[in-house]
Amino acid sequence: MSMQRYEKKTESHEPERDDNLRAVKKSVLYGWGKRYMIIILLFCTPNSVKAQLMKIAASTLELEKALQAARAEGGTVGLVPTMGALHAGHASLVSRSVAENAVTVVSIFVNPTQFNDKTDLANYPRMPEQDCALLERLGADIVFMPTVEDIYPTPDTRRFSYPPIDTVMEGDRRPGHFNGVCQIVSKLFALVHPDRAYFGEKDYQQIAVIRAMVADLQLPVDIRPCPIVREASGLALSSRNQLLTPEERQTAVNISRVLQASIAYSGQHTVAETHDNVVSQLNAVNGLEVEYFQIVDGQTLQDITAWTDAPTVVGCITVYCGHRPVRLIDNIHYRG
Ligand code: PAF
Repeated sequence: MSMQRYEKKTESHEPERDDNLRAVKKSVLYGWGKRYMIIILLFCTPNSVKAQLMKIAASTLELEKALQAARAEGGTVGLVPTMGALHAGHASLVSRSVAENAVTVVSIFVNPTQFNDKTDLANYPRMPEQDCALLERLGADIVFMPTVEDIYPTPDTRRFSYPPIDTVMEGDRRPGHFNGVCQIVSKLFALVHPDRAYFGEKDYQQIAVIRAMVADLQLPVDIRPCPIVREASGLALSSRNQLLTPEERQTAVNISRVLQASIAYSGQHTVAETHDNVVSQLNAVNGLEVEYFQIVDGQTLQDITAWTDAPTVVGCITVYCGHRPVRLIDNIHYRG
């Protein structure tokens, strides 16, 4: 796919300025001086109808070209790494980057090295056209959609290891997963050189691992975690939700419901009692099976035994839902 240019077609919500624009256009018919007209048009055309272009870079070469043009204008660069199938959670990351940076790059790349299950990789939802239309509306500047060959021209033999943060929970259940995440995120950082990178807090452990990698490699990137976005039902937004049937979606709502209720429960019960209560309630729901639920120190990600063990206490959960089944993750803050 070659680099394409899209005109942003944001609608104007500024009737007064639109009236000005109409008045100026009308004045052309009355033959005002050309130079005078250009100045007036510049002042009166609403920003929302000025042409701004979102570039789609389908290779590292195209990304470099697009970045050169964007960097020439100066200002900070924000990066939102994604695997596509974008939802309102991703949109919140992109909107924050657009608000905080001169240039926002969004990568869409289903990274094979972080999947330890081939079926999971094959089933991962892909909808690039829909994603690009959303990113255009959100005001992203560059969408980077490389091929696997582009990112991994030769097998990536680098090994990243940040124990004990990456050896527990997801690290324990998905061997090699965080190594793959570090491989792709470090490559994206090397290609884009972002000042800031945005990640969703639903993947709480992923943020901790990426922070450890950034510190280890001494990368000048500010990691900005963004809050989980939930449906009105409480279900945490995830690209994987699209793999659920409508009935399974209703079943999945129990995950956030039980986690939320456990906050009140934790006020009168020990860490162990709260843990067991969450697990037994969820396993009692037909169609749900808890893979793990761990109540951990929010910094070290190690299990705690008393609520006062750490200034930040987070409950991290992974649950299998439905017939496929779909693996869903969520977390909740008990402290901090
Ligand atoms: O969170 C994700 O979607 C992925 O792990 C990431 C950070 C885009 C790397 O592939």
